[in-house]
Amino acid sequence: MARDPGRVLIFDTTLRDGEQSPGASLNLEEKLAIAQQLARLGVDIIEAGFPFASSGDFHAVQRIAASVGTPDGPVICGLARAAAGDIKACAEAVAPAARRRIHTFIATSDIHLEHKLRKTRAEVLAITAEMVAYARSLVDDVEFSCEDAGRSDPEFMHQVIEAAINAGATTINIPDTVGYTTPAEFGAIIAGINRAVPNIDRAVISVHGHNDLGLAVANFLEAVKNGARQLECTINGIGERAGNASLEELVMALHVRRSYFNPFLGRPPEQRDPLTNVRTEEITKTSRLVSNLTGMAVQPNKAIVGANAFAHESGIHQDGVLKNRLTYEIIDARTVGLADNRLSLGKLSGRSAFRARLEELGYTLERHDLDDAFARFKELADRKREITDRDLEAIVSEQVQQQ
Ligand code: KIV
Ligand code: ZN
Repeated sequence: MARDPGRVLIFDTTLRDGEQSPGASLNLEEKLAIAQQLARLGVDIIEAGFPFASSGDFHAVQRIAASVGTPDGPVICGLARAAAGDIKACAEAVAPAARRRIHTFIATSDIHLEHKLRKTRAEVLAITAEMVAYARSLVDDVEFSCEDAGRSDPEFMHQVIEAAINAGATTINIPDTVGYTTPAEFGAIIAGINRAVPNIDRAVISVHGHNDLGLAVANFLEAVKNGARQLECTINGIGERAGNASLEELVMALHVRRSYFNPFLGRPPEQRDPLTNVRTEEITKTSRLVSNLTGMAVQPNKAIVGANAFAHESGIHQDGVLKNRLTYEIIDARTVGLADNRLSLGKLSGRSAFRARLEELGYTLERHDLDDAFARFKELADRKREITDRDLEAIVSEQVQQQ
């Protein structure tokens, strides 16, 4: 079993892989605001950017390192290809942080070696050892990723991992770069690494995954069962193509189902301690901040943070919830920082109460938008006994989509 931190570390890459979402570029002040909120949320590591990619990225990582990377704050990490220039720039950018990490990577799949890197396996093995050692000469905390691990030959990947650990890597990250694997396959990849890499007990095993088949979160949960102890994820699941594994879904799955996951971490099922250090009541606020600053709307039916995630529409469900919430709710909305979504407004409520509640939720509408939204609210209130904050948010987001 790999070096075990005794819980699951949350590595947030919203500001690096998340920012790679088409159209999601953030300015320096926006990145800083997100990094500060991620620290309040309680993530263990913030991947703040890719310093060699641009001077904007370099300065953002440096600024975040200086202001969020306090001794009791998160580790601040930068990404670097396995190349000396990238690694040097990364070390400089993360330097102001009290706890800093260089995350370096190279592809290990034959398809990437042949068509992208144009290198042999022996060359990749040599570059890994040399560049990880170089990174380790600059910082104590080095993460190494086998890019496209999900499609790599396990035997070759095991050799690369062993070389990376011998050269000083303290975290080994296994990315399903193209979101290709299924949960059973991904779990087996992690189990295989634990079984076959002789020095794996000197590193934490991390996972990183994309959502091309919508399986990233499921894959990660299987990875945790097989020994992964760091999860790389983004707020609202934003990221390249279909996005990355979503932080809020992972954290809440581990929280709600902790008696199921506890034994995989060597704990008794009934242990109450959370599996992660995330303050779940900060989740909604963080999701809204990232959505507002990136301009990427959250789909209404998105688990945990979608506008409908805690709304009950059908009469049968409403009736059940009014008798006992546990009939149709597995999460108390307050756990993720939403106001109690019990009754807030109903069909007898007036326009000013409606406007005031929207303003409390952060929405100030122009007069004609407010009229339209109020008309929708009245229609809904005729059908639905209980109008929750989530319903109000759904009304407003429909409104925005129709403009
Ligand atoms: O998806 C990927 O493989 C990555 C690596 C750089 C970790 O983002
Ligand atoms: Zn990625």
